[in-house]
Amino acid sequence: MGCYVNRNEFEYWVTEHLRMSGVYWAVAGLAGLDALDQLPSAPLLEFVDKCYDAQIGGYAGNVGHDVHLLYTLSAVQIAAIYDELDRIDADAVAAYVASLQQADGSFVGDKWGEVDTRFSYCALCTLALLGRLDAIDVDAAVAFVASCRNFDGGFGAVPGAESHAGQVFCCVAALAIGGGMAHVDQDLLGWWLAERQVPIGGLNGRPEKLPDVCYSWWILSATSILDRTHWMDAGKLRDYILSCQDWETGGIADRPGDWVDVFHTFFGIAGLALLGCGGLTLIDPVYALPEAVVLRLGLPRLFS
Ligand code: FPP
Ligand code: ZN
Repeated sequence: MGCYVNRNEFEYWVTEHLRMSGVYWAVAGLAGLDALDQLPSAPLLEFVDKCYDAQIGGYAGNVGHDVHLLYTLSAVQIAAIYDELDRIDADAVAAYVASLQQADGSFVGDKWGEVDTRFSYCALCTLALLGRLDAIDVDAAVAFVASCRNFDGGFGAVPGAESHAGQVFCCVAALAIGGGMAHVDQDLLGWWLAERQVPIGGLNGRPEKLPDVCYSWWILSATSILDRTHWMDAGKLRDYILSCQDWETGGIADRPGDWVDVFHTFFGIAGLALLGCGGLTLIDPVYALPEAVVLRLGLPRLFS
């Protein structure tokens, strides 16, 4: 096997703490291109196994680091893509996720206790993939996410926090999994999401911010669940994402001319697929996994 990491590169070290999610973005991006065979799965699955802390039941972002709910979701997603969920101790992971739920239904991400609707999504998605939603109080989880809804129809990280498109993805997908879509004002939120498109076609995450390719995913996933993608100019958005691709490396950046990375490359591919661009595999907007994986797991399709 050839060496496909360069430890002399700056990016290798600045992303060291989130290597697990990096593997997920790379593998899911390859799956979106129907090119999963471009990377050998065995060393990646071995890496996932090494990040597991059997005492806690969670996964870390890298070998020897502390476990975190976000990396636990990435580990489960990687295993799901490779049809290797059997190597996950579902009971232990479910107990770990349940241990992070608070009395108000919210979730903390790790032992440091930060509450954020990102973690509500991570918890619900992880457990849905493992078929273990019964391990938590789903109604309380839904009620907490609903309490983070704002006057503009959007959602924030905690009650009263500003609406942010990344959190909107987390909250809408969490509500879809938890059966709480009645808490979403679909027209008001659809309008807020459509307003995120700026004149050059890209999407921003909040009013007055610059466009960024990753918002193609955070926003298109939500508009796909709400059936409001047609409220945006899909052609202009597709052209914007393509203008962020670097023709030398093939990767996609946040904005035209910026440095490419695997995060924006995955979300660019996933966004293009949600726009219906030919030749790409659809990434399910709720579970953030290739459609075929979601089908294989027998999970319900929660978008239109
Ligand atoms: C923007 O972050 C994105 C979010 C707040 C959502 C992050 C969601 C997760 C980590 C859940 C897991 C996601 C998937 C797809 C499985 P940012 O810090 O870049 O925001 P900024 O643009 O305001 O800086
Ligand atoms: Zn970005």
